Amino acid sequence: MALTQVESGMRLGLGTGSTAKHFVELLGERVAQGFDCLCVPTSEVTAAQARSLDIPLTDLDTIDRLDITIDGADELDLALNLIKGGGGALLREKIVAAASDQMIVIADASKLVETLGRYPLPIEVNPFGLGATRRSIEAVLVAQGAEGGLKLRLAATGESFVTDGGHLILDAFFGRISQPEALSRALLDIPGVVQHGLFLNMCKKAYVATADGVRTILT
Ligand code: A5P
Repeated sequence: MALTQVESGMRLGLGTGSTAKHFVELLGERVAQGFDCLCVPTSEVTAAQARSLDIPLTDLDTIDRLDITIDGADELDLALNLIKGGGGALLREKIVAAASDQMIVIADASKLVETLGRYPLPIEVNPFGLGATRRSIEAVLVAQGAEGGLKLRLAATGESFVTDGGHLILDAFFGRISQPEALSRALLDIPGVVQHGLFLNMCKKAYVATADGVRTILT
């Protein structure tokens, strides 16, 4: 369904994660048949996949705007507010989505929720001053009535997970995010916070895979 939105000559943002990976694979098949596009990947992993499929890549220094970014999500509500960053690529994903005329989310029905927050919110932080940043975020969690705390994300090796930008991720367990806009502002006010995984008012179309077929959600 997402591929039906892509036209020859378009500039595309390529998302990250197991769902976006399928899209990149299908786009690669089109490119192999001569389809013309120019893409900006949202992570080193996606860049490597795209290169292996000979999908032409560029960056946001070379071009200003993208037509569409197609990406997955960890959670979406019916207003198409999202939680992203389960794969740790939230910063580049947000930069690329913000530089796009349209963001389309592809997800399965398990990601669709009434209220965001069941999935832990990834918060990307600078390693410098981690303790101080952590305490400031904890105060925001208390003020927002979070059900749980903060957890430093670890890689499979047991070391801290490090993002493509060289930052760390704290996963915040809210349970329910009742004031997403206020939460977003409060987190971004903390100097050590680089970005968070709440994508508010950025996405206008989602294709959600259900047992009965693909459901299109528009805002
Ligand atoms: C990557 O950092 C994320 O934002 C992904 O887009 C999100 O976690 C969805 O990933 P899956 O498609 O693997 O569930």
